[in-house]
Amino acid sequence: MKIVRSPHELKTILKEHQGEIGFVPTMGALHRGHLSLIERARKENALCVVSIFVNPTQFLEGEDLDKYPKKFEADEKICSIAGVDILFYPQAEDMYEEDEIKICSPNVRGYVLEGHVRPGHFDGVLTVVMKLFNIVTPTRAYFGKKDAQQFLLIMQMVKNFFMDVEVIALETMRESDGLAMSSRNVYLNDAERLEALKIGKSLKCATNLVIQKVFEAERIDKEMREVLSPLEVEYISIVSRSFVPQEKVEIGNSIILVAARLGATRLIDNIWI
Ligand code: PAJ
Repeated sequence: MKIVRSPHELKTILKEHQGEIGFVPTMGALHRGHLSLIERARKENALCVVSIFVNPTQFLEGEDLDKYPKKFEADEKICSIAGVDILFYPQAEDMYEEDEIKICSPNVRGYVLEGHVRPGHFDGVLTVVMKLFNIVTPTRAYFGKKDAQQFLLIMQMVKNFFMDVEVIALETMRESDGLAMSSRNVYLNDAERLEALKIGKSLKCATNLVIQKVFEAERIDKEMREVLSPLEVEYISIVSRSFVPQEKVEIGNSIILVAARLGATRLIDNIWI
């Protein structure tokens, strides 16, 4: 596995490469969720590139940029064992300069739910993903359904800018007790970790209601809140695959999303119906 720190060096290396490139952008502190993306990228492409970059522009003032878990040595081993060909590990100063052109997320889809709680977050995500795509020139790029809004906005960016990359979303990987894997789970203490299980349980409850043909968003929302209580729920939302709020769940076209706070930690999860 080659570790490359400079964007220009990586561009030069990849220009020489002829075959398909599979790309997995990450912020590191890798877990099995990331690994599932890496495995798919390896399987479907001649070359597998993973980036680890804790992107400062997607963190708001006062968020966890400084304490975001950094585990480069462990991540490097994980990537090497997983068969990654190139690990791209740039520094912020290699990726950004002063007073740059930025990608703005769309007014509605970029500023509801996660974008409402974290205004401007998706501007940073889209800007860095655009940069990474231009550096890596992937044939396919792999994202997790866990960050549903992020994935759908990236899909929209690719479409709006006529970008030549296939964007693929993969299922959310969970711990055996149902907690969605996240680099931020390390922030949880034992009591919070236990309480966090209510998030997955609330989504299970929603799924069971849909199986019983209960489709009304209001009823699903109410029952989910009962499961989540007394957690501090930031939002529960039922939206279409184009992120339009729905009064009724539509099988094959709905995503049910939850964001909740456990002490200082925010967790998000969702289920695609
Ligand atoms: P990060 O949170 O490191 O996630 C990298 C990728 O892993 C994302 O596509 C995310 O959706 C996916 N992922 C996270 N948890 C997962 C899980 N439990 N199961 C499956 N996939 C999971 O998302 C980012 O980084 C950044 O915003 C990034 C896209 C790299 C831009 O900076």
